[in-house]
Amino acid sequence: MTSQTLRDARKYEEAMGNKIKKEQRPGFHLSARVGWMNDPNGFSFHNGEYHLFHQYYPYDSHWGSMHWAHVVSDDLLHWRYLPAALAPDAEYDRDGCFSGSAITLPDGRQLLLYTGVAKESQPDGSMRDIQTQCIAVGDGTDYEKYPENPVIDRNLLPEDGSKYDFRDPKVWQKADGSYRCVVGNCTGEGDGRILLYSSRDCIHWKYEKILAANEKRFGRMWECPDFFMLDGKAVLLVSPQDMLPQGFEYHNGNGTLCLTGTYDEETDTFIEEKNQAIDYGIDFYAPQTVLAPDGRRIMIGWMQNWDTCNLHSPEQPWFGQMSLPRELSVKNGRLYQQPVRELEALRGEKVVHENVTFTDVIRLDSVKGRKVDMELLLRPGDEQNIYKKFAVRFAQDENYHTAVSFRPYESILKIDRKFSGSRRAIIHQRRSLVNSGNGRIKLRIILDSFSAEIFVNDGEHVLSATLYTDLSADGISFFADGQVTMDVVKYDLVME
Ligand code: FRU
Repeated sequence: MTSQTLRDARKYEEAMGNKIKKEQRPGFHLSARVGWMNDPNGFSFHNGEYHLFHQYYPYDSHWGSMHWAHVVSDDLLHWRYLPAALAPDAEYDRDGCFSGSAITLPDGRQLLLYTGVAKESQPDGSMRDIQTQCIAVGDGTDYEKYPENPVIDRNLLPEDGSKYDFRDPKVWQKADGSYRCVVGNCTGEGDGRILLYSSRDCIHWKYEKILAANEKRFGRMWECPDFFMLDGKAVLLVSPQDMLPQGFEYHNGNGTLCLTGTYDEETDTFIEEKNQAIDYGIDFYAPQTVLAPDGRRIMIGWMQNWDTCNLHSPEQPWFGQMSLPRELSVKNGRLYQQPVRELEALRGEKVVHENVTFTDVIRLDSVKGRKVDMELLLRPGDEQNIYKKFAVRFAQDENYHTAVSFRPYESILKIDRKFSGSRRAIIHQRRSLVNSGNGRIKLRIILDSFSAEIFVNDGEHVLSATLYTDLSADGISFFADGQVTMDVVKYDLVME
């Protein structure tokens, strides 16, 4: 039975979503049908197509009582809106259906495992959110909440586990048919950790252990965990709140963390080896992955930042977009990301310029546009005298530009969107320490109407940022202090 709350949301999104013109949206990045979007949820492959849900408040372009929006796609780029899947309409989730994941059950139905939020009055008289894990099962469009929800509550917390910060379950099935899920939690002191649960049927859950603990290293509460094996390594992705920067890592406040290591299936023991940020740009949080039928591990993230996502005008009909879906791999314990290969099918006109040597500002024939896939291969024009700085400017006209610059002596890549149309004095720049040898570096820049994603050295580092530049600003130019030689391959990206 669909509740009135869900029916209202479905009616509203259908009426209001249709009023938003195609040109007001990104070309190939998913944006909210109407209203507010945050974390990706339930990223899965079900019944022959990709399903993606997300945190959603249809009635305003600011965060509100959380629903789950729902989209499907064949290629991870053309998304079709389905009716909202969950609304906060039960006793245990009346204050929000928070993040979670999805899986196909052996009988072919799709199960959503999510966090229910319900305020409870506390002994001191205050009201606080209590978070529990709940399920809903359905046919890929309509979902029925389980009558005995919640399926994981405070009784399944380890000692000192917070019942207030206990959210974002990510489920997977093991080869033996049993299920596991990881859930974000913190201690009474607010120190993040990831809990592991097991189940035979995905309904009745048992607490197993603390899979990973922050020990006060990376921020505080750990949100939105994801855990999987990739290229022989165990990978734990989390989004820690309130991070302190460490060198060139973790500059994003509420940031992202990838821990790679080993995992012993028998004892469910994860041993960390390396840590890194997942994205080094300005806008990226709460990523989630899906295992594609062809074996690829594909990640998508919320291309926004909790510190700056509340500054837009309430008149804006939608807010929040997803990153490009990215294929993951692990090399030498490091997470690599590449745009999904499906993007290549959107490539239109190809422009190539080889061995372009320059020492000042240049523009190149037919190199412009706002929906672009552009690869730059840089090297010194003079090997004895390496250039001091390279920059590419895009979304450019007399008033606007966004720049990506590289200083080989420091090996620092910087994104600067100060002139991207933002009227707010928020963070507009981010620097990242990248790998380069003698001024050689490879940059793949994916531009969409309202974003730029920079993949450095085949995805060894990625920097994502949203842009608000007028779409008429479509210039691209290059700059060198010293002598740079560059190959450029540029495609327009065309959405049918
Ligand atoms: C992360 C997060 C999650 C939570 C959701 C609420 O961005 O805070 O931990 O489930 O957003 O919308």
